[in-house]
Amino acid sequence: MQTFLHGRDLIGDLDFSKEEVETILDVAFDLKRKRALNESTAYLRDKVLAMLFFFSSTRTRGSFEAGMAHLGGHAAFIESRTTQIAHGDTPKEIGEIFGRYFDGIAIRHVDWGVGNKYISEVAKYSRVPVLNMQCDIWHPFQCLADLMTIVEKKGRDLRRKKMVVSWAYAASYQKPMSVPQSLIVQMPRFGMDVVLAHPPEFRLMPEVMEMAQEQARKYKVGFEVVDDMEEAFKDADIIYAKSWGAMVHTPDANEGAEIIKKYSHWITDERKMALAKEDAIYMHPLPADRNIEVTDGVMDGPQSVVYDEAENRMHAQMAVMALTMG
Ligand code: CP
Repeated sequence: MQTFLHGRDLIGDLDFSKEEVETILDVAFDLKRKRALNESTAYLRDKVLAMLFFFSSTRTRGSFEAGMAHLGGHAAFIESRTTQIAHGDTPKEIGEIFGRYFDGIAIRHVDWGVGNKYISEVAKYSRVPVLNMQCDIWHPFQCLADLMTIVEKKGRDLRRKKMVVSWAYAASYQKPMSVPQSLIVQMPRFGMDVVLAHPPEFRLMPEVMEMAQEQARKYKVGFEVVDDMEEAFKDADIIYAKSWGAMVHTPDANEGAEIIKKYSHWITDERKMALAKEDAIYMHPLPADRNIEVTDGVMDGPQSVVYDEAENRMHAQMAVMALTMG
């Protein structure tokens, strides 16, 4: 039986309609329930997913690989340096050839300035679904897991919930912008009022900001940008605070370090969390720089949902794989 998403790629967060995302959530919750009850979820028996990684991963690799096994299939881990890509295999070869071996191709390619060009090129030549495991612009599977976690903790009706997407200080200067960018375009579709907080140097891509504003207008929700973490946290229902790099990428590491050093007070700590609602949740896609980006007290505290969020990566991805590759 073919599903309504059969054969579809997931590269950008808006590739699937709001209604399609609702169905993915339904399937993800059902898969999670079945796993808890030890029921079979073997919807992709004999199917194989290629996982092509150009960058390291803990959660993405683990959750896709375990997810494919729980679906009765197999995931092949392919590290780009062990391929012939450096010796001439272009995206056309990857799409054409892997598309004949595998039933889906998942790719993590986060090179600065490339956007989703590499992944989209592979998709052009692939006869099977191509899934974006993170590019320079989007992290759609993280965002689906985040949405699932918010629904789990706050209920399905998210209208007028205040979600803060905040920059946070970290020891490394160049973390991708893909997570906050996915969040600000996806969450307005589900009724949340989004407040984006960042220092002036850490703005997001202008074209993504336009998309977020358009979604907020379409779904009649708030979308505000502030440069003060504490102001943003006031009365929030959901705090999502993580580090990302500056738009102006300087080759001079000292200059980058000087810029970021000014904002070491942008840490999520117990005092700032107290500004949010009493039942506010703290989210982070991980990895986090403990006691630099967020204190241990918040990360391991009662408001933190980071481990449920990481677990939901697997359920949300299983739903998309079952629906696109089934
Ligand atoms: N959140 C996330 O994508 O984690 P990994 O980089 O470990 O895959």
